[in-house]
Amino acid sequence: MIKISKICTKDDIALFKRFINEYIPFSDDSLWLGATINGIPCGVLFADIISEDSKIGDIQFLFVHPITRRMGVATKLLNTFIEEAKKLKCKKVIIKSVKDMKTINEISPFFKNYGFDPVEIEANIYTITPQYFHESGKIEEFANRKIIIPPNIKIYPSDEIDKSLLDSLKAKSDIDYLKIYDPFPENDKFKLKHINTLFAVYNSNEIVGWMVGLDAFGESIYYKTLFVKEKYRHLYLGLILQNMCLKNHMTKYLDRSVLLGISIRNDRALKFFSIYSKGINKDINYEFNFTKNL
Ligand SMILES: CC(C)(COP(=O)(O)OP(=O)(O)OC[C@H]1O[C@@H](n2cnc3c(N)ncnc32)[C@H](O)[C@@H]1OP(=O)(O)O)[C@@H](O)C(=O)NCCC(=O)NCCS
Repeated sequence: MIKISKICTKDDIALFKRFINEYIPFSDDSLWLGATINGIPCGVLFADIISEDSKIGDIQFLFVHPITRRMGVATKLLNTFIEEAKKLKCKKVIIKSVKDMKTINEISPFFKNYGFDPVEIEANIYTITPQYFHESGKIEEFANRKIIIPPNIKIYPSDEIDKSLLDSLKAKSDIDYLKIYDPFPENDKFKLKHINTLFAVYNSNEIVGWMVGLDAFGESIYYKTLFVKEKYRHLYLGLILQNMCLKNHMTKYLDRSVLLGISIRNDRALKFFSIYSKGINKDINYEFNFTKNL
């Protein structure tokens, strides 16, 4: 009764359109699976195969229509994907997403039942609304902030920085950084665009820090990451980048919420944010993953 098929043609996409998060761009490189019950669409799964130390089946989206839940649809979608992932010699599958804690608790039994490891929370995602900025008087405070940049450092927005510097940063020629600090959104599943990203450049020839602000569907700016190269820490560059981003936000993007992701492994950043954001009315979502070895 439950049938799983690949979504590849325009007609397939049209059939499953209402389940497809309009923000995930369709890509031929990904595996898209659709589930139907008696020909009626009821769920989808999209995944990529990525190569790190070994191959990983990276599930980007799994959704089953509420009225057809608990009927085995997600199980069948996963079975089909895992069969494919095994054929491609994947060593594990992972599903990452951002949700509130209530939803994470609701879906955890499903993943446990299927043999995934317990949920791993990766980051807190704070949302600060424009209403808060208007009511709290923070707009003026941030917009008028005086920022002193060290003499041999210049701060550039993403569209003004020298492309060859970006290329060598991408190639990690003279710097290494963890994936969570990656400033290139094209490496992420939503492929959001830079809107308020700043790079700190030392002596015009080395990128030494960045704060990445991405356009989250025209509604929010997602401040994905703030990073300063080890050697250049303690020069207040983190604070400078953050203040300049906020200043831009408060002058140019006042209709948008701030979405701020902070890794739960980053004690200093969490502490910094908790002091800095006292009194902020913020909702917390969590970036999490479920993993299963194959
Ligand atoms: C999580 C989700 C995909 C599960 O889909 P589903 O089609 O209902 O799952 P299945 O019917 O295949 O469930 C398989 C097993 O897990 C159990 N299960 C499923 N959802 C459960 C829940 N909320 N609580 C407890 N057990 C659950 C089922 O009982 C079933 O076990 P059984 O075969 O022993 O009865 C679905 O709830 C969903 O789309 N949620 C919203 C989107 C989402 O959060 N996606 C995941 C992160 S991106």
